[in-house]
Amino acid sequence: MTIMKTLKLTACAISLTATAVAAEDVEVLHWWTSGGEAAALNVLKDDLAGNDIGWQDMPVAGGGGGSAMTVLRARVTSGNAPTAVQMLGFDITDWAKEGALADLNALAGEQNWDDVIPAALQTFAKHDGKWVSAPVNVHSTNWVWANKALMDELGIEQPQTWEDMIAAMDKAKEAGKVALAHGGQAWQDATIFDAVAMATGGPEFYKAAFVDLDEEVLGSDTMKEAFDRMATLRGYVDDNFSGRDWNLATAMVINGDALFQLMGDWAKGEFLNADKVPGEDFACFRFPGTQEQVTFNSDQFAMFSQGEGVSDEQAYLAEAILSPTFQIAFNKVKGSVPARTDLDASELDACGQQGYEDFKAASASGNLYGSMAHGHANPAAIKNAMYDVITAHFNGEYDSATAVEELVTAVQINK
Ligand code: GAL
Repeated sequence: MTIMKTLKLTACAISLTATAVAAEDVEVLHWWTSGGEAAALNVLKDDLAGNDIGWQDMPVAGGGGGSAMTVLRARVTSGNAPTAVQMLGFDITDWAKEGALADLNALAGEQNWDDVIPAALQTFAKHDGKWVSAPVNVHSTNWVWANKALMDELGIEQPQTWEDMIAAMDKAKEAGKVALAHGGQAWQDATIFDAVAMATGGPEFYKAAFVDLDEEVLGSDTMKEAFDRMATLRGYVDDNFSGRDWNLATAMVINGDALFQLMGDWAKGEFLNADKVPGEDFACFRFPGTQEQVTFNSDQFAMFSQGEGVSDEQAYLAEAILSPTFQIAFNKVKGSVPARTDLDASELDACGQQGYEDFKAASASGNLYGSMAHGHANPAAIKNAMYDVITAHFNGEYDSATAVEELVTAVQINK
């Protein structure tokens, strides 16, 4: 690696201080703090350590990254931007518009990113013709995670329809189990809503509502039906769901206390971290009614300009992230699938192989949609306003008719 040679030479010439971020370190702001997430992050840390680049960790706990984005804003405002930041969709575009991100075009050109990274990811990774972030993975949110032993014990087949899903959860409830493991946090409620809205109204509805922000569709009877389904799901969570972290909800499925969790495939990272095997200990399948669709989000590392252009360390980090071996090694642990479409996926497990194929098929057939809950359908201001409505409804503050009206208003105010 050409960049590495330069780095090793400069590393000898630079003296370190214990407190400040040393010149050859990268400071990485991220929200990967659960067991599975941390295990995946270690793959990246080890890669950098193997190349003599230090890692200054800046974790900000909180699934979905809302808190991390607040901390980031404060850091940049005080003139102290981290080197690299885990970021999603429209947040990348927003920071690029502010001119805060380094230009990665030289590296991207050398490494042919235009040809190997799918267009859906380039939409966010490039701004005004410039590469501004390095995509590390592709996640998708319309998954169900199930305890296999419990399914077998209760005679539950993989649900194909909404009605099947309800029948399965009824069985779990009757058996004294938690039917739906869930954490009552706004981003988790919204994650469920991604799949429920897609299943209720189909892909055109989803796009019109969340991407095009069509007020008629946002205020439609179909949207009301989606909220009604959310209210139905609310009847299957346990009494202690409020505020629970997503990985603790996953643990309930892992331990056999709960039947299902509706969550993005980062949940798989928790199963793997607990030595569980897909197809044996747990099942993964698309939320019924969204078998053809993929609501995706892609974690990317945006490099903040640190003065002049992109630093050697930033370039190395970006190069490492896109390397084929790293893409496979990392995504095997994280639960996501590679951000490049040119890789041999045979090393991924069954859920990962399905995820990779689903992503490519949905991309080819026009069934790939950005996740509203994870910042890939609309900008943060609108997303957060939608979160508020979805959460208020889930907690019984609004009925479905009111929720629909509030959703329209939220979009009108923040558009
Ligand atoms: C998502 C992110 C995933 C996962 C999840 C829960 O927004 O894309 O990588 O970490 O949050 O923290």
